[in-house]
Amino acid sequence: MCGIVGAVGHDRCGAVLLDALKRLEYRGYDSSGIVTLHNGQIDLRRAVGKLVHLETALAAQPLNGHIGIGHTRWATHGGVSEVNAHPHVAANRVSIVHNGIIENSTLLKKFLVSKGHKFKSQTDTEVIVHLITENLKTENIVDSIKKTLKALHGSFALGIIFKDKPDLIVGARRGSPLAVGYGPNENYLGSDSYALKSMTNKITYLNDGEFCVIKKDHVEFFSEDGTKINKKVLELSSEEEKYDKGDYKHFMAKEIEEQPLTLKNGIKEYIDNANDDINIYNFPWKKNEISSITLIGCGTAYHSCLMAKYWFEELTSLDVSVDIASEFRYRKNRFKKDSLYVFVSQSGETADTYAALDLCNKNGMKTCAVVNVIESSIARDSEFVLPIHCGTEIGVASTKAFLGQILILYILALKLGILRGDLERKHLSRKLNDLKKLPELIEQTLLTDNKIQNISSTFNEAKGSMFLGRGFSYPIALEGALKLKELSYVHAEGYPAGEMKHGPLALIEEGMPVVVLAPRDNYYKKTISNMQEVIARGAKVLLITNKSSDEVISENIWETIEVESTNEDLLPFLLTIPLQKLAYYSALKKGFDIDKPRNLAKSVTVE
Ligand code: F6R
Repeated sequence: MCGIVGAVGHDRCGAVLLDALKRLEYRGYDSSGIVTLHNGQIDLRRAVGKLVHLETALAAQPLNGHIGIGHTRWATHGGVSEVNAHPHVAANRVSIVHNGIIENSTLLKKFLVSKGHKFKSQTDTEVIVHLITENLKTENIVDSIKKTLKALHGSFALGIIFKDKPDLIVGARRGSPLAVGYGPNENYLGSDSYALKSMTNKITYLNDGEFCVIKKDHVEFFSEDGTKINKKVLELSSEEEKYDKGDYKHFMAKEIEEQPLTLKNGIKEYIDNANDDINIYNFPWKKNEISSITLIGCGTAYHSCLMAKYWFEELTSLDVSVDIASEFRYRKNRFKKDSLYVFVSQSGETADTYAALDLCNKNGMKTCAVVNVIESSIARDSEFVLPIHCGTEIGVASTKAFLGQILILYILALKLGILRGDLERKHLSRKLNDLKKLPELIEQTLLTDNKIQNISSTFNEAKGSMFLGRGFSYPIALEGALKLKELSYVHAEGYPAGEMKHGPLALIEEGMPVVVLAPRDNYYKKTISNMQEVIARGAKVLLITNKSSDEVISENIWETIEVESTNEDLLPFLLTIPLQKLAYYSALKKGFDIDKPRNLAKSVTVE
């Protein structure tokens, strides 16, 4: 989703900003732009589509100057066009980049039009830059920013430059993440530390409501009411994680294949081999301080939460609920003192998940984050953090982060099971032993490649498909359907297999592909009966089960894929692999942009 960069003091500002924008590409965007101040003038370049178009525009007409801001836009208000791309400029005096949504932009625009302001775009962002210009008529820079921020409803991260003040950038944050980076006689602004890391490893994060004035040799921070505040400079690891596609065609293919390794990392981090225990010794709460747990996330992360519900119920006596962050944040929640709220997010920046966390924090709840990006807002603002240790995930469709999330949630369920006395030590030992073998089983399951490549055409040609599972396999069915629709743009629906006869069975027609997840677990026989019901109505069933000496007793199954075998708890990890590959190959055959599916973003920083 939208990305912001800014630099002051650098003599190749345009080039530096373009490089930083390239590091934000993974978030998803549809247009981009950079503005610099040069010889007392605002100089702007914008382009629709990939950054390469902006690069071409810059090659034709380079941007000079020592100060500038840049942006990758993911359209919210106003279509994808050059005029709607950021930066926006008002009265040839002030220029702005914005991430977020201004909810009262229509009202503000009316007011500004009445004051004679002329608008060029359909964006909510342009309202902010005109409002600043209006306020500058009577106020100095800091006061005009303070006054403008007060008038805005909604969420934002902003970068602003002023024609008459060629030595400073203003940054402001409410809801959307923003960080300041420090260099030698030059300073920077960025949506995340990843964007800034090519320039510096010294960083300060802005908190909600704060704004800053960045000059090349120092930075001042202010709270919402304009009071000056001191903030810590964090030193991030200066080692650049080398992350490229290697020999793979797409990041997603690489990330799928990396899963044995990332799981190994997670297991190494969280299993104490010497003591046959779980290495979460710093868990901050005592057993009698928690009696219920609520897991919250969006999209794939929500599916991880749903998966975890089955494990928490199986392994602990806690009351467990699961919520979609965008629903949770506006509901009338009954907060209880002994509840633990767990926020699951790869990026750690998802606006809805962050807002749900913020709500829990404001209500004095116990909060825990399960994140991949440890410098993220969700990690920083949670009481306790469990990193998933997956490394950078670039493909917009989450793969290794999903397995990483469910691994850590499974380990947390084991931890709470032991802590509460719900799980016996001897059972923990057995489960940990099985868990240690999981990466190898994933490696073997990853080998079932050719069959899935062939099968994927049928899903592309069909009007739609269904993914069915029961119990532990149900969240995986949802995740399989999400992967297929987001990558191949074909309709796919995940459903609990036992619910089909209550409505969705009407969708089944001759030749419709249906994936049935039926591992040999407690639900196996029931799922096989449900599978027969769809076969009887003409479905082409792809059965995904685990290897066993017992044959599947059913006729007319179209195709079967067998994953490796392990204990019931861990089968969901293995079932996920063929589903990720099915989505990948379907999109590959259609020639779609696998790492950046249309309309989607990696870091969803608007609600
Ligand atoms: C789907 C996908 C999304 C994300 C969701 C939450 O493949 O990746 O559904 O899971 O946008 O993102 P995070 O985990 O960053 O909070």
